[in-house]
Amino acid sequence: MTKFNTRLVHAPNPHDNNTGAVEVPIYKATTFAYPSVGSQVEYDYSRSGNPTRRAVEEQLADLEQGQQAFVFSSGMAAIHAALALFKAGDHLIIGDQIYGGTFRILHQFFQKWGLEITAVDTRDPAAIEAAIQPNTKAIYFEPVTNPLLHVTSIQQVATIAHQHALLMIVDNTFLSPYLLQPITLGADIVIHSATKYLAGHSDVSAGAVIARTPELAEQLYFVQNAIGSILSPEDAHELARGIKTLSLRLDRQIANAKRLINFLQQQPVVTIINYPGIPGQPGYEQLHQEATEAGAVFSFELDDQLVDAEAFVNHLKVFQIAVSLGAVESLVELPSKMSHAELSPAEQLAAGITPTLIRISVGIEDVTDLIEDIQQALAAAKK
Ligand SMILES: Cc1ncc(COP(=O)(O)O)c(C=O)c1O
Repeated sequence: MTKFNTRLVHAPNPHDNNTGAVEVPIYKATTFAYPSVGSQVEYDYSRSGNPTRRAVEEQLADLEQGQQAFVFSSGMAAIHAALALFKAGDHLIIGDQIYGGTFRILHQFFQKWGLEITAVDTRDPAAIEAAIQPNTKAIYFEPVTNPLLHVTSIQQVATIAHQHALLMIVDNTFLSPYLLQPITLGADIVIHSATKYLAGHSDVSAGAVIARTPELAEQLYFVQNAIGSILSPEDAHELARGIKTLSLRLDRQIANAKRLINFLQQQPVVTIINYPGIPGQPGYEQLHQEATEAGAVFSFELDDQLVDAEAFVNHLKVFQIAVSLGAVESLVELPSKMSHAELSPAEQLAAGITPTLIRISVGIEDVTDLIEDIQQALAAAKK
C-alpha cells in the first residue's frame, strides 16, 4: 500500500471516466439514465449514489482503513446516521466529555425514541465496565476531548467492547486519520465532523461515517439513502480538495501549537495548559501509544488575579473569536461563554470548564505573528 501522504493526493479511483481528468468532476446530475429498462446501473439517483460523493467516500474509507465510508451534510448528520443503527430499548455508554451537539442529540432526540444512555469517564475502564447493562449495545467516545483534551485509550476500550460484544464508535474529528486511525486499533465505526480538519478551510459543513465491516456498511448505506442527509456534489468536491493538504496543514498547525505552548509555558500568568502533545502532560504517554501527535487544539488558563481572560480574548487581533476548529486560520474562544455556554455554571465547573479557560485552534499563520498577538493581548488585559 502506498504511504498515507501519497494516498491523500491520489484517491483510490482518480479517473472516474475516460477523459483523464486528474480531478473527479462535480456531477450535479440528480438522476442518471438507464441504457434500457431494467438494466443494472451503478448510479440512478443522486441521493442513492453520486460519483463525486462516492470518490471522497472511497478515499475516506481508504484513509481510515475501513470497509466503506459515507459522507453527510454535517458532522451532526453523520452522528445521527450512526446513532440511527440502534433501536428503542438499546443502551449506549458515552464519554462524559463528548461534543455538546452529540450530547444534545442523544438526550433531546434519541432518548425520546427510547435509547438509553449512561455517560462515563471513558479514561477509566472500571467505570465503563460498571456501566454495562444487559441491553448495552455500544460505547461512543472521543479519544481526545474538547476543551480539556482528556485522552482515552482506544485499545483499552476495545478490549472491553470486544469482551462484551459491544460496538465501539469513535469520533476522530480532533486528530483526523493523519494522526490516528481508530479502526486499526479496534473501532467499529469512525465519525468525523469533516467541517474541521478534513475540509480544513472553514468553508464546508460536512460529516463522515466510516464502517469497519461490510455488515455495518450495509446498514449505514441504508440510513444514508433512507434519511437523505447526503453531502452535495459541490461540497464533496471541496472536501476532497481539503483532504489533499490535510497532512501539510496539520504539520504546520502542530508545529505552531507547540511553539505557542512553549511561549505560554514561560508566561507566569499562565496557570494551566491542557495539551497531551508535550511530555509531562496528562495523557501524553497513552496518546502517543496510539496516535502520532496530539493535534492543534489546546486550552489554557490565565491567573484571574493578574489578567482578565475575556479582555485577553477580545484584544487578540490575528486570532479570530469563533467556536469552530481545525481550519487554516487560528481561532480562539472562551468555552464557558461560547462553545459550552449551554451548561450551567455548576455543570461547567463539574466538567472542569472554568470561566478563565481559553481554547485555541491553531492555524497555519506565521507563528511569530501569533506569539506577538498573544503578547500584546496579555499586556492589554493586565489587571
Ligand atoms: C468532536 C466533534 N464532533 C462532531 C461535531 C459536529 O460537527 P458539525 O458541526 O460539522 O455538525 C463537532 C462540531 O464542533 C465536533 O467538534
